[in-house]
Amino acid sequence: MCGIIGYVGERQAQPILINGLKRLEYRGYDSSGIALILDTKKTPSIRKSPGKIKVLERLLIEKPLSGRVGIAHTRWATHGGPTQANAHPHTDCTGEIVIVHNGIIENYEALKHQLIKEGHKFRSQTDTEVIVHLVEKFYKNIPLEEAVRKALKFLVGSFAIGVIAKKEPDKLVGARLGSPLIVGLGKNENFLASDVPAILDSTKEVIFLGEGEIAVLRKNSVEITDLSGAKLHKKSSHITWDITQAQKNTYKHFMLKEINEQPGIIENLLNLRIKKGGSEIVFEEQRISAEKLRRISKIFVVACGTAYHAGVAGKYILESLCRVPVAVDVSSEFRYRDLMINSDTLVIAVSQSGETADTLAGVREAKKRGAPVLSICNVLGSTLTRESDGIIYTHAGPEIGVASTKAYTAQLVAFYLFALYLANIRKTISAEKINKFLVDLKKVPRLMAALLKKQKEIGKLARRHSHLGSFLYLGRNVNYPSALEGALKLKEVSYIPAEGYAAGEMKHGPIALIDEYRAVVCVAPSSKIYDKMISNIQEIKSRKGRIIAIATDGDSNIKELTREVIYIPKIDELFSPLLVALPLQLIAYHIAVKRGCDVDQPRNLAKSVTVE
Ligand code: AGP
Repeated sequence: MCGIIGYVGERQAQPILINGLKRLEYRGYDSSGIALILDTKKTPSIRKSPGKIKVLERLLIEKPLSGRVGIAHTRWATHGGPTQANAHPHTDCTGEIVIVHNGIIENYEALKHQLIKEGHKFRSQTDTEVIVHLVEKFYKNIPLEEAVRKALKFLVGSFAIGVIAKKEPDKLVGARLGSPLIVGLGKNENFLASDVPAILDSTKEVIFLGEGEIAVLRKNSVEITDLSGAKLHKKSSHITWDITQAQKNTYKHFMLKEINEQPGIIENLLNLRIKKGGSEIVFEEQRISAEKLRRISKIFVVACGTAYHAGVAGKYILESLCRVPVAVDVSSEFRYRDLMINSDTLVIAVSQSGETADTLAGVREAKKRGAPVLSICNVLGSTLTRESDGIIYTHAGPEIGVASTKAYTAQLVAFYLFALYLANIRKTISAEKINKFLVDLKKVPRLMAALLKKQKEIGKLARRHSHLGSFLYLGRNVNYPSALEGALKLKEVSYIPAEGYAAGEMKHGPIALIDEYRAVVCVAPSSKIYDKMISNIQEIKSRKGRIIAIATDGDSNIKELTREVIYIPKIDELFSPLLVALPLQLIAYHIAVKRGCDVDQPRNLAKSVTVE
C-alpha cells in the first residue's frame, strides 16, 4: 500500500504535500518523492529518494521546488525494490507528464513490452510506469483527463493515481479503481489524497471517489466523471474528527495513544448504538432487512490479521447469543475456496481500513453467490463499505499505528452489539437477557480505564521477559482468539516469534516447546473452563515454562502457580476479550519499545494490505 497526495491552488505546494505525505507514512515508507509544476517555467520538476520522508525533506532543503500544482508519494514496494529509480513520481519519455500511483497493475509486463516496441523508454522496474507511458501515447490534442481515461481502459488491477502535465499546468487529474482516493475541497485550492489525515490541516470537506471515477481538479473547480466520461454529481462528506486525533499528542507512539483511547472509543460507540435506555440497538447504516436476517441459516466471517481474530471471537459471540452456525476464514483462503454459500448465508466482512485486497475479493465472491454482505469497518467511505449491503462503522477514529489495537476492541463491540441485535430479531434470547448483557457491556469502558491504570506495572512485567526468544499464547473458548491476537501483536511490533494456540491443543504438539527459555502467556480469566486453563498452567510449570497469566481480580489460586500475573476486573466471561486485549497489547508494545523496534511502522508491514 502507498500514500499519494496532490495539490492545486494559490499556495506553495511543497510544504502542503510534504506535510500530507507525513500523515500518510503509515501506508508505506520505503521511498518517497514529489513533483511540482514550477512557477518559473511551468514544467514539472521532481525530487525523490529511497528511505523515509525525512530523507526527501533533506533533499528539498538542498534543492527546494516552487510551484502551486503538484503531486507526491510515499511507497511500499511491490514491483521493484526501494531504489531511486523505482521511487515515485514517474514520468513519460518527455518528462512532461508525471504520475504517482497506489495499487498494482497486473498486466504491466504485457503493456510494457508493447510500449517498448512502440519506442517508449522505461527508467524503472515498477508497474506504475506503464500508466504514464500509456497516457503519453494518447495525449495528442485532447485534454489530459481524456488521455488518462483512454489509458486506464488498458489496465488490469488496482490503482489510485495523480497526474500532472506541462501542457495543462493548472490541472491535477485523479482516478481510482480498487485503491482509495479522496478529493479535498478548499477555498481556491483543491486536494487529492489516499486518506483523510493527509489533508485535514486544510479542509474537512471531502469527496470519496468511487470505483472507476476520474476527478479533474483546478484551483477553483472539481469535475468528476466515470470512465466513460459521463459527469457525476458527488456529495461531499464533512469529516467530524480533527487532525489532533491523528496525532500522537503526548504519547511516545501512535500505538500507545491508540491503546489508551480504547475506553473513550468504546464509551462513544455504546452511547451511539444503545438507545432508549438500553431497549434498542441502532445501526445507522445497517440496511439488511430484519426479514432477511431472520431467514439466514448460517454466517460466514471473512477477514485478515487482527480483524480475523475479531471474527473468531465473533463466532463464539454469535453462536452463543444467536444460535446460528458461524464459520470464519481468512480472506485469502475464503476467496479461492469452492464456497458453500448462498442468499441464506450472511457474510460478515471485518476490516479496519476497508481496503484490504483479499477481503474485498472475498466480498465480491460472496456477492456473486447472492449472499448479503455486512461489513464491520472503521474507515468512512472505504471501498468495502461501498460494496456492502449493510455497514457497521466502528467509529474508532484514525488508527495510525500499523498494529491494530483500538480498531480490534471496537470490532469486538460491533460483534457483541450485532449479536444482541440479531438475537432480538431471531428471538433467541429474551429482552431481559439482552438488557442484562447491555448493562454488562456498558461497564466495559470504566473497567478498561481501571485496567489501564496498571500500565506501568504491565510495562515492567513485559520488560522482564523482553529478552526471551519466543512466546506461546494460550487461551480457550472466547479467549482462544485473544491468544491468537496477543501473539500477532507481539510478533508484528517486536519481531519475536510468537504463536497463539487453543490451550487444549497444547498436549498435541506445542508442549514440546515448553522450557525455561520461552514465555507462555496464559489467558485464564474466571470462566466455565478456568480449571482446564489451570491444568494447562500446571503442565507448563512442571516443565519450567515461564508463565505470564492474565487472570481475574481476586483469583488467589493463580499466584500459587506464577508470580507473573496481570489481573483484569471481574466481568462476564463472554465480554472478557475486551479487557484481556489491553494487557496483551501493552505487553507487545513495551517489549517492542525495550527492543528498540519501530513500533508504529514495523519493518516489512503496512497499515493496510491493498495488494494480494
Ligand atoms: C494487525 O495489527 C495488522 N496490522 C494486520 O494484521 C491487519 O489487521 C490486517 O492487515 C487487516 O487489515 P484491515 O483490518 O484493514 O483489513
